[in-house]
Amino acid sequence: MDGTDFRDSRRAPADGAGGAEEIRLDGVSKTYPDGTVGVAELDLTFAPGELSVLVGPSGCGKTTTMKMINRIIEPSTGRILLGGEDVTRVDPVQLRRRIGYVIQSVGLFPHQTVRTNVGTVPRLLGWDRKRVTARVDELLATVGLDPVRFGDRYPAQLSGGQRQRAGVARALAADPGVLLMDEPFSAVDPVVRERLQTEFLRLQETVRKTIVFVTHDIEEAVRIGDRIAVMSEGGHVEQFATPAEILGRPANAFVADFVGADRGLKRLAVTGIDTSDLERPPVVHVDDRMTDVRAALERADARWAVVLDSAEHLHGWLSAERATGSGTVGTAARRMEAWVPAGASLKAAFATMLQHEAGWVAVLDGDRFLGVLTPESLHAALRRSVEGTVPETAGAV
Ligand SMILES: Nc1ncnc2c1ncn2[C@@H]1O[C@H](COP(=O)(O)OP(=O)(O)O)[C@@H](O)[C@H]1O
Ligand SMILES: [Mg+2]
Repeated sequence: MDGTDFRDSRRAPADGAGGAEEIRLDGVSKTYPDGTVGVAELDLTFAPGELSVLVGPSGCGKTTTMKMINRIIEPSTGRILLGGEDVTRVDPVQLRRRIGYVIQSVGLFPHQTVRTNVGTVPRLLGWDRKRVTARVDELLATVGLDPVRFGDRYPAQLSGGQRQRAGVARALAADPGVLLMDEPFSAVDPVVRERLQTEFLRLQETVRKTIVFVTHDIEEAVRIGDRIAVMSEGGHVEQFATPAEILGRPANAFVADFVGADRGLKRLAVTGIDTSDLERPPVVHVDDRMTDVRAALERADARWAVVLDSAEHLHGWLSAERATGSGTVGTAARRMEAWVPAGASLKAAFATMLQHEAGWVAVLDGDRFLGVLTPESLHAALRRSVEGTVPETAGAV
């Protein structure tokens, strides 16, 4: 985002564009003057409110694609439509008001404070001072930077992660419908990167922008993307699909190689639990009499039962071996803490199982017991995810 580009827009209406817009690339190619093909014949549609990721090796044309969308670079052929409108027909200044842009390094103006940086676009749009200040403080808080502590610092006085947050705040300043993010988290260390990804996903849940996010890191792509375009040299899209599809059914050898041999494991992280995956062992209550429990276990031909308390919350489990005597279930049941919420990923379920050294994990909807996952049902769920019948968790951990 080059500040000078906004100078002419002072006449423009003060408000940002707001609503998320579709981005369509229609036969777009870019050949640089020296003959290098940056991208060749791209046909891609980025759905409104979705986070689409462009992933691929260095030099495959990701940045070129981004820069054509906000017209830093003009395409050699084809059309780019933003909300159905040909971007080449839109005044570049108007266009960039609708598109936030976050990049890895050259993000912030070094000689300006964080506050001044974040307020760049609203100021150039002619907002009055009070409104700019209010918006800047709101945005800094949104991205996790305390305006009082960090607002008056210069970029050099921030950590890498804090700089990236400030960069995201600045891109959101005029509430654009579209965000282009070019390797925004690549320069920060893995721990900070994961935290930024998590916060960014949470932010996206509330703002629901159309986001095109570039990375060369497939782990990052599957973690945050609603859809992923895997690109190869020369700007070819090898596959454009959901993370589960990319990992479960790579379209060709290039994609399979790019996502790696451990794609099965990666798929666990992007596949959500479906209630149809759950096993339903007999359910008993802490106050039930042991004689009734034995009958229930026998009827179901089960070796153990899930134990709920009187409020239907998970209490633990009871094995057939311990279901002896004539007391109540509560006296013999074992407590069990291994549970995950219904929206969790299979990876979270698996991790919980390992953490508690348990043979199963309970799945709860709020406090309500839904069923259990075992290693067998987990495996079946994973297989089904390849067939595309299991819902994905957006960016589940
Ligand atoms: N201004 C330019 N002139 C000539 N070639 C360029 C220029 N910018 C990028 N390229 C080339 O275009 C290809 C795609 O570059 P780029 O879009 O930056 O890739 P990525 O972002 O995927 O790493 C590369 O081969 C790169 O060297
Ligand atoms: Mg690049």
